[in-house]
Amino acid sequence: MTIAALSRLSQATLQGRVAVVTGAAMGIGSAIARELAGLGARVLIADRSQSGAEQMANTLSEAGAQARGVACDVSDAVQVEAAAQWACQNWGGIDILVNCAGVASAPGQPYTRCTADDWRRTLDINLMGAVHWCAAVREPLLASKAGRIINISSITGVISAPYMPAYTVSKAALISLSKVLARDLATAMVTVNAVCPGYIRTPMWGDLVQRGSTTEGAGDVFDQRVRLHVPMQQPQSVEDVAACAGFLATDLACHITGQVIGVDGGVTI
Ligand SMILES: NC(=O)c1ccc[n+]([C@@H]2O[C@H](COP(=O)([O-])OP(=O)(O)OC[C@H]3O[C@@H](n4cnc5c(N)ncnc54)[C@H](O)[C@@H]3O)[C@@H](O)[C@H]2O)c1
Repeated sequence: MTIAALSRLSQATLQGRVAVVTGAAMGIGSAIARELAGLGARVLIADRSQSGAEQMANTLSEAGAQARGVACDVSDAVQVEAAAQWACQNWGGIDILVNCAGVASAPGQPYTRCTADDWRRTLDINLMGAVHWCAAVREPLLASKAGRIINISSITGVISAPYMPAYTVSKAALISLSKVLARDLATAMVTVNAVCPGYIRTPMWGDLVQRGSTTEGAGDVFDQRVRLHVPMQQPQSVEDVAACAGFLATDLACHITGQVIGVDGGVTI
């Protein structure tokens, strides 16, 4: 026996499992897709950008994984159902769902700056996107030996960010959804958890600037917030979040459910 064989962590595998990662064409979702593929899962990349999804799937396939990219706007229940059906028909089911697709909302402060349309768009994608996907995968997850739902929320779902009211509310609701489904699916041994990233420099930060949440450059705001809010005084990385999601997807985490896990350098302490 090798010393590595003593560690269950080093033996962890997702061989034979099918995973769906939404919003995986770039940013945190793409790192999660890489992680799950690296652990042996077949990965369906579901993103509103068809070219981005296909490009990501090609990158994984070239590295030896089984992956496919599909165009899927998570706010559209019909597109979600079609993507889930593709995985069930072609890959025999779905074991792991990672709801990562998300958008920054319009700026707040005062909160009346957010229009009804801003609220609707943010909730349609950040909350209803996960609701649609969780509905579409319920039967396959019940049939799975190790069903997993991992919802990518945010520190703003735990502490409140007045500069982005709709985003904050959508992420808090996603945590609540995770807990409700964790209870609902517990007897079937399907786990549901929320992972809350802190500050990660992804394309989403550019979007924040574009939407006018700040007049400063994305880099300036990012560095300032990290300095002000992160006890560890460092940003987190997409790989930090991917490692957490990867662990939650494995059999090692079979009794972890309904939890809210911060990957945030201590922001939510
Ligand atoms: N970056 C951070 O600091 C941070 C912090 C906390 C939480 N998060 C959350 O992590 C998740 C990923 O964020 P990111 O920073 O990687 O963002 P990103 O903007 O870099 O990537 C988001 C991805 O989601 C896709 N997407 C957007 N709307 C979609 C829709 N309607 N349907 C399908 N796909 C859609 C985009 O095409 C893109 O590929 C989001 O849910 C975000 O709220 C990010």
